[in-house]
Amino acid sequence: MKKQIAALILAAIPMFGFAAEGAYPLDKVSIDLTDKAALQDGAQTFANYCMGCHGAKFQRYERVATDLGISEELMMDNLVFPDAKFGDHMKSSMRDTDAKLWFGAPPPDLTMVARVRGADWLYTYMRTFYEDPSRPYGVNNKAFPLVGMPNVLVGLQGRQEIGCKQVQIIEDGKKVFDPLTGVPLTHESCDELTIVPNTGTLSEAEFDEKIKNLVTFLEYSANPVKLKSQRIGTYVLLFLAFFFVFAYFLKREYWKDVH
Ligand code: HEC
Repeated sequence: MKKQIAALILAAIPMFGFAAEGAYPLDKVSIDLTDKAALQDGAQTFANYCMGCHGAKFQRYERVATDLGISEELMMDNLVFPDAKFGDHMKSSMRDTDAKLWFGAPPPDLTMVARVRGADWLYTYMRTFYEDPSRPYGVNNKAFPLVGMPNVLVGLQGRQEIGCKQVQIIEDGKKVFDPLTGVPLTHESCDELTIVPNTGTLSEAEFDEKIKNLVTFLEYSANPVKLKSQRIGTYVLLFLAFFFVFAYFLKREYWKDVH
């Protein structure tokens, strides 16, 4: 028993290691891979704002159009680079050598990024760029400190600054109140992000929705057969359940005369 407990603890260690790596608390996002409108919006954002630098080279335009219910015409007009064909892989137009020169690090291919980083990380990353004049592109990032990527969505989100703010004290997920006055207690935190009003075209809620859709697309891209495999999984389990009953009665029948 002791050995088993030790094995369990050992098996859990990598989990703790991973959790400790990202010091910044990640915002949670719930992704619905069956939401076609979200997927289409995400694909459009990806093509318009990301593919100048990043590719999704294990993914074909044609396949995306089919899976997301986008017509060939709409796809060609809005999502596909002018020199690319419908059946092509979604490659970025940038050469790795140029990218390295410009950004210090080549923009990685994003086909699988949702599997590597997870949806919550991506959702947080895209929303936590903030102004930092010490960085080459004038921005830093909370989820990815010292990132080499410029804040490409600043026009939508607006400029985000870091500074000090009074924030409510939360313990065990609940606000803490002053026992005498009943006023919620606050403390000063100097690690708070605020969007400068009227510097972006979207409201905060609209921007969050845009990013959620973008992450939905990246999640689909990393595992385009997920939907299908979940469905097959259910059938397999149902079949096994049925087969078990069948096998049990068969066994009883065979062994009846032996006992
Ligand atoms: C101007 C070029 C450029 C554009 C446009 C761009 N990126 Fe990036 N991106 C980069 C570079 C360069 C890096 C590598 C940063 C580093 O390693 O420091 C990067 C890194 C990333 C990473 C981290 C990958 C990892 O796991 O390390 C993600 C995720 C990402 N980009 C998503 C996006 C998305 C989504 C868009 C579109 C909304 C986008 N990027 C648009 C240049 C760009």
